[in-house]
Amino acid sequence: MQEIKFYSGENIPLELHKVRIVQKLHLVPIERRLEALYEGGFNTFRLSTKDVFLDMLTDSGTNAMSDNQLAAMMQGDDAYAGSQSFYRLEKAVQDVLGKKYLLPVHQGRAAENIIALAYVKKGSLVPMNYHFTTAMAHITDKGGQIVELLYDEAYVINSDHPFKGNMNIEKLEEVIKRHGASNIPFIRMEASTNLIGGQPFSVQNLRDVRTLADKYGIRIVLDCSLLGENAYLVLKREEEFKGSDMKTILHTMTSLADLCYFSARKISSSRGGGMCTDRPEIIKELEALVPLYEGFTTYGGISIREIEAMAVGLYETLDETMISQSPEFIKYLVGELDKKGIPVIKPAGVLGVHVDAMQVCAHIPQTEYPAGALASALFLISGIRGMERGSISNQRDEEGNETYADMELLRLAMPRRVFTLSQVKYVEDRLTWLYDNRELIGGLKFVYEPPVLRFFMGGLAPTSDWPQKLMAKFKADFGESL
Ligand code: F0G
Repeated sequence: MQEIKFYSGENIPLELHKVRIVQKLHLVPIERRLEALYEGGFNTFRLSTKDVFLDMLTDSGTNAMSDNQLAAMMQGDDAYAGSQSFYRLEKAVQDVLGKKYLLPVHQGRAAENIIALAYVKKGSLVPMNYHFTTAMAHITDKGGQIVELLYDEAYVINSDHPFKGNMNIEKLEEVIKRHGASNIPFIRMEASTNLIGGQPFSVQNLRDVRTLADKYGIRIVLDCSLLGENAYLVLKREEEFKGSDMKTILHTMTSLADLCYFSARKISSSRGGGMCTDRPEIIKELEALVPLYEGFTTYGGISIREIEAMAVGLYETLDETMISQSPEFIKYLVGELDKKGIPVIKPAGVLGVHVDAMQVCAHIPQTEYPAGALASALFLISGIRGMERGSISNQRDEEGNETYADMELLRLAMPRRVFTLSQVKYVEDRLTWLYDNRELIGGLKFVYEPPVLRFFMGGLAPTSDWPQKLMAKFKADFGESL
């Protein structure tokens, strides 16, 4: 992709698309935002979008669709079995991900459920570069355990390591030897490792994992939900792939895995998900479970129209002007926040900007959920909805004890082609104000804690009247401004 320089010398990520359909947003007064927080139990998942100004909760199912995706939806071939829409998607998977066989499922976690049902049993151990919430929940639900094997650099917030998502190869071999290959149903590699700040792994690292997997006869399962962005960063950062292209990199990565799965809500800016492989015996092992949990094997619980959008969206992953948009906006915002001394995960990754709540809220102990508190505080003073990615998102251990997260992050997702640069400037402005007033942020406690994936529906409350004090300071500084 050709670089576009500004005469002014400023480094501005220029949008290479135009907006043709828009949705009106509402920035409600701070008093209403405070009420909304109490109504939603200080959990940003439980806010209603009518109270949200910039929705940076996730990029899942919220990326802007292209005109070509919307157009394709009109040609959906409604059929329970053998739909032409399925064959178009199968072809897109072959072309873009280089895998012959496809089983569609309704979203990424449905693939995780089916893979865990097929391969995980009591006593199984699944090594991975890092867990994702739903991936881990499905493995532990079937009696298995996970082990996370990153290099120490992955946990360094202010770093310039290009591939913090790399699997620790030495530890992986140790774990295999200690636990026994026969108890390891697969090694899971997650592209653009979500919970440590959207950090990629290198192709070389995946090759090294493959070498060990071959040595011990273990499958590799590749979570491709954020594979496009991982490939884009390989193109930018891995010497061997300078001047290469998205398709070559994607195929190189997927060819190293036995089984790939994805959330289409991410990779193809649509809905749905899928599992794909070149190995007929893997398809046989998984195929029977799809009609039981998802739907017939040519729709897997996804609407036919979304299947069409998925197929086109997958091809668009190959377009560098599309796939670069979110990472380049993230890089811009990370750069601006970093200049102001606000602690954010570096280098800039994908999916979103990750603010280090452990530092911003150094005065809040982990027992009072600093990342959740920061997410609530930012919503209160700006209407920006981020997501807690810290201890609230962790699950309790087998004895029911709280497990504190390695990192306490406020994630501000940057869905593809959704926000404009002035909106990004607003995020920067309000975060700067909040950082300057960070001592006013207080802790949270659980008042309702669901037994599984508690972060989705859990209810919390502030440990004091800090939200009221923060609001008073906002009004003193901003007057009548929203
Ligand atoms: N794997 C990764 C790496 C993900 O980021 C997600 C979802 C999934 C699997 C599950 O896919 O949502 O389609 O069932 N991530 C979303 C997020 C929810 O906000 O990061 P799903």
